[in-house]
Amino acid sequence: MQITCGTDIIEIGRIKENIEDLGEKFLNRIYTQKEIEYCESKKGQKYQHYAARFAAKEAIFKAISKELKDKYEIGWKDMEILNDEQGRPQVKIRGEQKENIDISISHCRDYTVAMVVMSI
Ligand SMILES: CC(C)(COP(=O)(O)OP(=O)(O)OC[C@H]1O[C@@H](n2cnc3c(N)ncnc32)[C@H](O)[C@@H]1OP(=O)(O)O)[C@@H](O)C(=O)NCCC(=O)NCCS
Repeated sequence: MQITCGTDIIEIGRIKENIEDLGEKFLNRIYTQKEIEYCESKKGQKYQHYAARFAAKEAIFKAISKELKDKYEIGWKDMEILNDEQGRPQVKIRGEQKENIDISISHCRDYTVAMVVMSI
């Protein structure tokens, strides 16, 4: 077994600009419908949750990159980050819960960060 990791940090303001400028075109390119519902439920705080999921997907790309060439051809919407009943984020890839990928997210006023640990 091999452990890989990935991390990403995002300016929340950049994601806000993209959403304001491109609207649904941006949202539908990056996020699943359930992710959009989760972020929109956060009302005024929604941009930090969108930014967190963007960072999380970049972090997954990094963690998974060793395998990408032979096993995965993966797009933004193949990944879905939703929270369990305790709020802990979980990763699905193409609808399948990935028990071998663990993810952690944090936000502050201007930035959001995500880190991923994966066993392959
Ligand atoms: C859950 C908690 C840790 C989140 O911390 P926070 O500083 O308020 O918020 P952050 O911006 O750092 O993190 C938010 C992210 O934490 C993640 N999160 C929420 N609940 C979580 C949990 N139970 N376990 C792991 N991650 C969790 C989510 O991914 C969330 O982002 P998202 O809603 O966009 O997915 C905090 O609100 C909490 O409940 N603390 C209780 C005190 C406590 O139990 N401390 C630990 C003692 S061992």
